[in-house]
Amino acid sequence: MAKIKKKVALIFGITGQDGSYLAELLLKKNYIIHGVKRRSSSANTERVDHIFDSIDFSNKNFFIHYGDISDSTSTLNIINKIKPDEIYNLAAQSHVRVSFDIPEYTADITALGSLRILEAIRILRLNKTKYYQASSSEMYGLVKNKKSLNEKTPFHPRSVYGISKVFAYNTTVHYREAYGIFASNGILFNHESPRRGPTFVTKKIVQGLVRVKQGLQKKVTLGNLYAIRDWGHAKDYAVSMWKILQYKKPDDWVIATNKDNTVKKFVDTVARKLDIKLSWRGKGIQEKGIDKKTGNVIVDVDKKFFRPTEVDFLRGDFSKARKYLKWKPAISTNELIDDMIEEELSVD
Ligand code: NAP
Ligand code: GDD
Repeated sequence: MAKIKKKVALIFGITGQDGSYLAELLLKKNYIIHGVKRRSSSANTERVDHIFDSIDFSNKNFFIHYGDISDSTSTLNIINKIKPDEIYNLAAQSHVRVSFDIPEYTADITALGSLRILEAIRILRLNKTKYYQASSSEMYGLVKNKKSLNEKTPFHPRSVYGISKVFAYNTTVHYREAYGIFASNGILFNHESPRRGPTFVTKKIVQGLVRVKQGLQKKVTLGNLYAIRDWGHAKDYAVSMWKILQYKKPDDWVIATNKDNTVKKFVDTVARKLDIKLSWRGKGIQEKGIDKKTGNVIVDVDKKFFRPTEVDFLRGDFSKARKYLKWKPAISTNELIDDMIEEELSVD
């Protein structure tokens, strides 16, 4: 019987939240996976170490390469060496607030990084290689009416992060139209997990309130409590990335839950699940969450966590993905919070 050739995927951003879930998914689908990791002074592979520990090295199906998407030469060389069937570009300076502090760096990585990968595919004439761009709901930015956003909603980014993602989105469309590359955008709304970086708001809230409950921390200090987000689970969203590249043609896709919550409601839900009775006092910068049992302030607000321009409302209409990709979220926001709390409670 003829041996079926395994598909080869190259993941930029393998050490990140999404990269780790995508790698797990593709390994289950029998892919050979190559991931690109940038050099850092200490190991930052904790999200994929369990994959290394569990794989059968005789299978030779999981490889990590040093590289950096700020460096065109190494990016082109890795792509040339591997000649993957699928490239997932998940690499980015992905923190919106931080993009106000390091705008030029953010544009270099988050915008130009995608151009460098697409240029490598074009120069190397890899006509069969499919490209996935990690586009973002942050591109919508200033939303005029609070309806669910879809693939036709115009973009009005509110940060250099958002602007960079619009550049990468348009570059992906352009390389598809100009050079016939199978290049698709997943416009993913916020997605979280136990592996979320600690400075994103969901992880900060879950980690903070668990530590308050355990007596390890006095309070959690946040910024804008009234921002509205559509929060899904990163594990579900990894499935959508793969489906996007299996579709018969390249296209652009909104991936979301179509449910919304405020940051404050997220805090209330986490507190309730931890059996903390929270009451809110004050307004604006003076607003505080008080533990009714102890009278202690356990949530407060500091203007340093506000952004010069905010994205007030994000809720996504994923009906196109549901219809054509047969994708829908399997994990509710409520179950996502349970998963995040459970993991946090297991931390020593
Ligand atoms: P993340 O946890 O911050 O991961 C980002 C990844 O990019 C990390 O592996 C990081 O490496 C890598 N990276 C950063 N700069 C790089 C460079 N110069 N060269 C090579 N790799 C570099 O982000 P995530 O939540 O997994 O998100 C994945 C992608 O989806 C990002 O592009 C993000 O902007 C986008 N996105 C995320 C969401 C969301 O809600 N999570 C929604 C829409 C779009 P280190 O580990 O060394 O930092
Ligand atoms: N990070 C953070 N820290 N955000 C806070 C805080 C805080 O202390 N307090 C309130 N917020 C508000 C932010 O102002 C924002 O409105 C909301 O919580 C969510 O912030 P983040 O969790 O930092 O995520 P984000 O929405 O800015 O960006 C994430 O989602 C994008 C998709 O819409 C990131 O994952 C981006 O990479 C992604 O593209």
